[in-house]
Amino acid sequence: MSDNYLNLIKEKLELKLGSINFDIEKRNWNNILVDFNNIELERLNNDLEIVYQRLIKWEYKQNDFSGRNKFNIPERTQEFFTYLESYCISWRTWQKLFEYINISYEDKICNLCPGWAPKVELWLYYYGFRWVLEVIDKDSNSIEQIGKFRNLFDYKFSINPIQCDIFSSELNNYKFVIANHVIDDLLLDYYGKVSGEDISSIYKEEIILKSIWSKVVNLDTKYIDEFINNLTNLILKLVDNDWIFLLSQYKSYIEYLLGLDDVTKLCNHIMIRVKENLLKLWFVDNYSVVEQALDWFNWYFNADETCFLIRK
Ligand SMILES: C[S@@+](CC[C@H](N)C(=O)[O-])C[C@H]1O[C@@H](n2cnc3c(N)ncnc32)[C@H](O)[C@@H]1O
Repeated sequence: MSDNYLNLIKEKLELKLGSINFDIEKRNWNNILVDFNNIELERLNNDLEIVYQRLIKWEYKQNDFSGRNKFNIPERTQEFFTYLESYCISWRTWQKLFEYINISYEDKICNLCPGWAPKVELWLYYYGFRWVLEVIDKDSNSIEQIGKFRNLFDYKFSINPIQCDIFSSELNNYKFVIANHVIDDLLLDYYGKVSGEDISSIYKEEIILKSIWSKVVNLDTKYIDEFINNLTNLILKLVDNDWIFLLSQYKSYIEYLLGLDDVTKLCNHIMIRVKENLLKLWFVDNYSVVEQALDWFNWYFNADETCFLIRK
């Protein structure tokens, strides 16, 4: 058993959790921990860290430890509604923004890297969109999940899934490209490519996510510059003349929960640099529209976390 881990765990239990009147205080942790091997201690250390992060953020109602293996309808329902609520605030924010953009749009839209949650799709459903939505993502599960949206809502548009790596594939160009919170994911993907590190489990294990991000935020600036150029070139290829590019990059729940302030800052910096690059080329900024639309602080993202550009 490593004294190192034991001390870390004791520190977490005594200093951090010790002031709260848990049952754990009644146990003799020295006797229990003494028989643990390194893997067990490492896991316990990770789990306690996750519990601790949730406790200090008052987020312990999102609890991955208790009730997972037992039949607990109220808890699962509450968890489901918490997710649904966040998707709803997200699509309402896009809806509010679109009201101010004030165009009647009747053509194909591209949703870049949607992931698993139908946020943009929900907005298009309520907007009454009737044309084609192309979703581009390299992950087959994400593509499949977005396709299942058909079973949930009777939407009138068609979803055209394109499964590919956006940086190494021939892509169409569009009159309307929307990208909700993608800079962080694309940067992680870029980091995986340049470092050769396997990043496939980052979305499943927050400890891995945290450890990989600590390396990404310390990347040499030459890599960040290269990533910014790649992203600028991608947008140039994707967006048609006279048309729209909309991107949001805000502090995500996981960034908030794990205290990943450096990640939020880096992604915001990248968004600003990409925007500056595009403005030097053929794009025009529509910040004032975003500022007018997202005037209330409780939107999912605010004006400074949004990029609304038109290509001239
Ligand atoms: C986890 S989702 C989150 C972003 C999502 N738009 C949202 O609002 O939650 C990010 C998605 O980006 C995709 N992705 C990352 N790098 C990519 C790349 N180079 N090409 C295509 N898809 C990529 C991942 O497969 C993943 O499904």
